[in-house]
Amino acid sequence: MTQDELKQEVARAAIEYVETGTIIGVGTGSTANFFIDELAKIKNKIDGAVASSIATADRLKGHGIPVYDLNDVNGLSVYVDGADESNKYLHLIKGGGGALTREKIVAAASEKFVCIADGSKLVDVLGAFPLPIEVIPMARSMVARELVKLGGQPVLREGFTTDNGNVILDIHNMEIMEPTKLEQNLNNIPGIVTNGLFALRPADVLLLGTEDGVKTMK
Ligand code: 5RP
Repeated sequence: MTQDELKQEVARAAIEYVETGTIIGVGTGSTANFFIDELAKIKNKIDGAVASSIATADRLKGHGIPVYDLNDVNGLSVYVDGADESNKYLHLIKGGGGALTREKIVAAASEKFVCIADGSKLVDVLGAFPLPIEVIPMARSMVARELVKLGGQPVLREGFTTDNGNVILDIHNMEIMEPTKLEQNLNNIPGIVTNGLFALRPADVLLLGTEDGVKTMK
């Protein structure tokens, strides 16, 4: 199976977690896009969705799925999104697509976080995928120096601006042995809007696409 077929397989499996008559959170990226296409097939079952990016909102609307502002809803039953890496504790690295801030907000607003990914995303130790950090533009150099002190090699994502008007520094070459501790430390650096570690609020369920079918980890 191709990587896209594995992503499609988990996207289909995630539909099982969509509760009738609720508003759900929808993530960003190629795996989330497959999920949106599956969701379109059962769109009458849900009241609508909150999107984690402008691209996702556009895709949902393209399928005729109502998109709500998070401020206009009381809560979300489930959040479905992909990841760049996951460990066995369902701590994630996210933000490869640059949508990490809205993704973290929508995940926090959701009762359940279902992560969907192809099998290649499961790792023993997080950090081979460069950790994305969304930064207020004026703080870019100062934050980069702080990240070097933490042992990483920050690289500016050239020519990229987030939906929130900020820049991304991707931290290379950092083995993340204690994801929750690093997430907290990064949260304390002024100028960082959001870091791509989802460990303090990990996924509740990981649906992993493999050659032998969908593997569910909780
Ligand atoms: C976007 C994300 C995505 O979930 C992550 O990059 C995975 O993307 P894909 O499903 O395309 O592999 O965090 O900000």
